[in-house]
Parts: sequence; C-alpha cells; structure tokens
Amino acid sequence: MKQRTFVMIKPDGVKRRLIGEIISRFEKRGFNIVAMKLIHMDRATAERLYEEHRGKSFYEELINYITSGPVVCMVIEGDEAVSVVRKMIGNTDPKDAPPGTIRGDFALSKSENVIHASDSEEKAKREMGIFFAEKELIIV
Ligand code: TYD
Ligand code: MG
Repeated sequence: MKQRTFVMIKPDGVKRRLIGEIISRFEKRGFNIVAMKLIHMDRATAERLYEEHRGKSFYEELINYITSGPVVCMVIEGDEAVSVVRKMIGNTDPKDAPPGTIRGDFALSKSENVIHASDSEEKAKREMGIFFAEKELIIV
C-alpha cells in the first residue's frame, strides 16, 4: 500500500553533514521524496510537533535541542512508507538501534538521535501538515 510519511533530519544530523547520506538511504531503498525544505524551527512549531510529549521529563531539553539549528523536513512516499521508514531509522535510543539503521549507524545519544519519522499514518498526516501545504507535495 502506497503511503506518505514525514521525516526530519535533526540539528545534529545537519551539523554533522549527514543530509546526503541519509537522503541517499531512502532513495536507494526505493522511496520518492515528494516534498523537502531546510528550516530553523521556531519554538511554537516545535511545541506543535512534539505536543504528545508536553510535560515529560525530557520535554524542555527536546524543544531546546530541536530549535537549536536547522533541520531538513521531508515527505517520503512509497510502499508501506510509515513502518518501513521507522524500521530504517531504528530505536529511539540509538544504543538499542541495530547497526544498519540510521540511528544505529550514526548516533549514541537518546536525546540527539539524528532523525525523526512519524510512527503512524495519522501522525504522518498531522506532522506533514505542520510543515507543508498540500500544494507543496509533488505528484510523482
Ligand atoms: P519519541 O517520540 O518517544 O521517539 P521517536 O523519535 O523514536 O519517535 O520521542 C521523541 C524524541 O524525544 C526522541 O527522538 C528523543 C527525545 N527523547 C528523549 O530525549 N528522552 C526520552 O526518554 C525519550 C522517550 C525521547
Ligand atoms: Mg515519536
């Protein structure tokens, strides 16, 4: 089933010049990029993206980190994109992420873990709607 999911290379991934490496993995896997932009997120947008985590112990640190530098936002399309992309990024805590996954290959810190991807189709729709207008999504 063809799906779209929202993916974001986080500030540590951009700073460490991993944009090309990460995009390359999704392209080689057979996914299409249907929208993409480099932005420096403001606090209000970060709070919208991470609404579900408000009040948790790591929330303040998360908002400060995600607004600390530019991120690359994209919408990726392909067969079962939501679950396959989640498998490709690996566990939230990179210490549990298997080698071969993006977090498993490029991160060690649970708070600075290189990449975000939506964890369900509903969340994908919600998250891509925060960063992209419908007309910015390319028809491939
Ligand atoms: P979460 O949605 O649980 O993970 P994922 O990014 O895999 O969907 O959490 C969002 C981000 O919050 C996570 O990528 C890093 C940060 N975070 C922490 O810093 N500490 C934690 O204990 C958790 C659960 C998340
Ligand atoms: Mg999540």
